[in-house]
Amino acid sequence: PTVGIIGAPFSKGQPRGGVEKGPDLIRTAGLLQKLQEQGCEAKDYGNLTFDEFPDDEPVGQVKNVRAVGSANQRLSEAVKAVKKDGHTTVMLGGDHSLAIGSIHGHSAAVGQLSVVWVDAHADINTPLTTTTGNMHGQPVSFLLHELQSKVPALPNFSWLKPCLSARDLVYIGLRDVDPGEHYFLKFLGVKVFSMTEVDRLGIGKVMEETCDYLCTRGNNPIHLSYDVDAIDPTVTPATGTPVVGGLTYRDGIYITEQIRHTGLLSAVDMVEVNPLRAQTEEGVRSTVSTAVDLLLGCFGRLREGNHPQDYVPP
Ligand code: ARG
Ligand code: MN
Ligand code: MN
Repeated sequence: PTVGIIGAPFSKGQPRGGVEKGPDLIRTAGLLQKLQEQGCEAKDYGNLTFDEFPDDEPVGQVKNVRAVGSANQRLSEAVKAVKKDGHTTVMLGGDHSLAIGSIHGHSAAVGQLSVVWVDAHADINTPLTTTTGNMHGQPVSFLLHELQSKVPALPNFSWLKPCLSARDLVYIGLRDVDPGEHYFLKFLGVKVFSMTEVDRLGIGKVMEETCDYLCTRGNNPIHLSYDVDAIDPTVTPATGTPVVGGLTYRDGIYITEQIRHTGLLSAVDMVEVNPLRAQTEEGVRSTVSTAVDLLLGCFGRLREGNHPQDYVPP
């Protein structure tokens, strides 16, 4: 399985500058070389460029609608093309509004997906329930068939058709969910492993149940959408909306090892790395190297060690 890397230096799904630096930071930390060292062929498709929308007036509450719609249309086409090239895609964000285009393009290429959304947040607000107006808190509502009657038409979003069913979505790591979001999760019966379930069951059982659940849903290709703020901010402080009480580094890595182990991983998003949000240089380094390690875990790195299939000791 080869990896196709797409950089998406986009920040307009939220108000804080810096998250557009994520893709190059993750590359500079050696992602490509490290993937290759672990025997994983990787091709870098470079960074996407996005159109500017100088008169991007809020639509109701929602900010930068036109820029977000346009960027995601471009990203969707890119992900679709890289999937058609036969790669497992890695989308380096950028903010989490980019999951709209990444998941849409993935589904356009391969059909019905399972999505594993690892995040402190549910990102399932609609343009009507959002209290911040930030699109990075809303991508899931745009993707779900079941919420279409709740999502108004927006400029530069007419290309987007919902492609995900609520029963094909699993959340891990939630600990900051808005009231409207909580209502949708309950109303739609979405499978959620909040931090409470992680505490009760441990990450071992959470992943066993996640993988069993996805199995009963028919072994669809998996889209792993990983918001780095799922991990505790002591480990990944360089992010726009940190929330205390998160996954440990080890929980985070274990999730990737188990998703990898299903053999179904087909696309990954790594989003919300923002170097301007940490107090210290060490905080930036720790966040970026955690993001890299999570991606290495997605592509076969095991903590027990690895050796090439044809390895013979001297
Ligand atoms: N629930 C809040 C909102 O809708 C926070 C979302 C944070 N999302 C993220 N991708 N970091 O604005
Ligand atoms: Mn988040
Ligand atoms: Mn998120």
